[in-house]
Amino acid sequence: MTQTTPEAPVRRQRAQIKVRTLRTDRWWLVPLLTFLGLSSFLVYGVWAIFDGSYFLDPYIAPFSSPCLATSCPEGARLFGLAPFGDWYTLPPGLLILGLPGGFRLTCYYYRKSYYRSFWLSPPACAVQEPHGKYTGERRFPLILQNVHRYFFYAAIVIGLVLAYDAVLALIHKPLGLGTWILILNAVLINAYTLSCHSCRHITAGRLNHFSRHPLRYRAWTFVSKLNAKHQPLAWASMFSVMGADLYVRLVAKGIIVFPYA
Ligand code: FES
Repeated sequence: MTQTTPEAPVRRQRAQIKVRTLRTDRWWLVPLLTFLGLSSFLVYGVWAIFDGSYFLDPYIAPFSSPCLATSCPEGARLFGLAPFGDWYTLPPGLLILGLPGGFRLTCYYYRKSYYRSFWLSPPACAVQEPHGKYTGERRFPLILQNVHRYFFYAAIVIGLVLAYDAVLALIHKPLGLGTWILILNAVLINAYTLSCHSCRHITAGRLNHFSRHPLRYRAWTFVSKLNAKHQPLAWASMFSVMGADLYVRLVAKGIIVFPYA
């Protein structure tokens, strides 16, 4: 009778690369561009949140919308409401920053991009990483990334508010360049939101029979097409929200002045 030796248990760990990289292409270019792009967004965002020129009727800067503080000018308030009392004296944008910020921070695509470009874990395929240990997203704090699906619901509301702002601008200033910039931004922000992987899962993620749920199947088909463009939509909407926000602020400061601004 032959004896078989039991197989050694498989240890799950990252590939051990002894040299710095096995690659001969310019693998560092994408992480570098990603680092610069995301850094510019962070730096701009911090400046914008503390900048006071966020409204010039009928334009409101996206980083400060919805405007919910009592310090918001009358026309800037969402439905004329100011639910936060006089006790709130910080910039209005700070009140809502966590919702779109949390949505992007926990986005599956952005996670990949900042893990690679900021944390270098690893910076690219087949490139050595500086970290000795890898625990993935199974432990605190990265396990908190699972809240993404809840940020998705908040992002839907923010997307609708930006669309509402764009419609108000269209009604009151149809020939304004700012109106069309806000419309383009609202389209890109909502397309990015709907292209979310959580959205795709919500539409039909657990269905066993598409044929029994034709409406959800159609929604899933539509979202799946957007989902295939999630990465470009993440970048396009990031630059559009920065561009639209900066444009409104420059108009509000009187730096951009022309009849159809
Ligand atoms: Fe990117 Fe949800 S996966 S926004």
